[in-house]
Amino acid sequence: MPKLIVVTREGEEREVTGETGLSVMEVIRENGFDELLALCGGCCSCATCHVHVDPEFAAKLPPMSEDEDDLLDSSSDRNENSRLSCQIQMSDELDGLRVTIAAED
Ligand code: FES
Repeated sequence: MPKLIVVTREGEEREVTGETGLSVMEVIRENGFDELLALCGGCCSCATCHVHVDPEFAAKLPPMSEDEDDLLDSSSDRNENSRLSCQIQMSDELDGLRVTIAAED
């Protein structure tokens, strides 16, 4: 199973694994990181699953939809590495992906 490295808001880093096809948000939640609220359950309408993705993986990520882009605009912690973690699927290509949970808005 592909690995995912999660960095919390406090800077704690932990490596977990997640089944291919699950979203990064689901894997983060399943592994007990409660600070990622993911209030809408992954339907791209809340932005509470906001993460900053290691720039090294930027080219491998799926393209951002207009909805995701608009939602991220509502976050004060948006930067060039921002993504909604419910919009990224675990895959072998993204093995070792490192994401940092963004500040709460
Ligand atoms: S979980 Fe709501 S936008 Fe990702």
